Amino acid sequence: MSVATGSAEEKGELRPQFAYLRGEFVPSDQACINIQTHAFLYGTAAFEGIKAYWLPEEGRMAVFRMAEHYQRLLQSCRILRLKAELSAEQMGALTLDLVKRNGHQGPTYIRPIVYKTDLRIGPILLAPNTQDDFCLFSLPLDQYVDTRKGLHVGVSSWRRLDDNAIPARAKVNGAYVNTALAKTDAHLCGFDDALVLNQEGNIAEGSAMNLFLVRDGCLITPTVSDNILEGITRATVMELVRAELGLEVVARSIDRTELYVADEAFMVGTAAEVAPVTRFDHRPVGDGNIGALTRQIQGLYTKVVRGQLPQYDHWLARV
Ligand SMILES: Cc1ncc(COP(=O)(O)O)c(C=O)c1O
Repeated sequence: MSVATGSAEEKGELRPQFAYLRGEFVPSDQACINIQTHAFLYGTAAFEGIKAYWLPEEGRMAVFRMAEHYQRLLQSCRILRLKAELSAEQMGALTLDLVKRNGHQGPTYIRPIVYKTDLRIGPILLAPNTQDDFCLFSLPLDQYVDTRKGLHVGVSSWRRLDDNAIPARAKVNGAYVNTALAKTDAHLCGFDDALVLNQEGNIAEGSAMNLFLVRDGCLITPTVSDNILEGITRATVMELVRAELGLEVVARSIDRTELYVADEAFMVGTAAEVAPVTRFDHRPVGDGNIGALTRQIQGLYTKVVRGQLPQYDHWLARV
């Protein structure tokens, strides 16, 4: 994860940073958990990755699609039988408070987690007196991947987790071992990122990004039943493309070889935003340059998150 290279203030170096743990804001370096914590031992936690941006016209921060992220966190908790004591609104209020306390003035990554706090051995989720808690931290994050150049993405030999093994629909901490294996091997093979196939051999998604292809002027993206995380950026892009560009987006199963004949390709995620792909498996996408439609969508997304398209103001939670 590359971290902002901006001013010391942007990096949060000028003021003490806080995290939220066990019901209170504490200095980040004191936000520690016990070595026997269930979530640490078994990965029994659900999380979100949320991003906040500086609104240049207003001189303040806004969190992008915060309500949708907390709704998805609550869905992950349902799947994982985690008890989220706080509502989406309460978690949202704590998030705005944290961004304010930490004084962020640039792109910021926010990580809320609902985790199983019990100190015990044994993976069962429903032990007597089991306890789950909400915690939160934030840090400056500009470019997660370099979206100015096209990514070179390789199809991984690791398969995506299946819905009946560890559901990809839920953002479960332990499931990110799958992501870590795919992304690490992709890097060792010289790729910028990995695309994982599901058990049927269809394209699922990237390491922390959903995929879009452009074929004959139509956008296609893997369907939600192909073992993907139902991405919030994916939903944002689908809405923007339909409303602003009048284009149709089809969600369906995608074969591996469709990657090789696509005219354009890009991956999307909260951290990565809209990341063009110019090569899959050592084959150029289209003419090998970033596609015109991809650039248009990148431009739209950048404007929306910074509050420059008023029709999407309802997606911004101001700090
Ligand atoms: C596996 C996976 N797929 C897709 C995404 C993109 O989802 P979103 O746009 O909600 O950040 C993420 C990012 O969190 C992810 O971890």
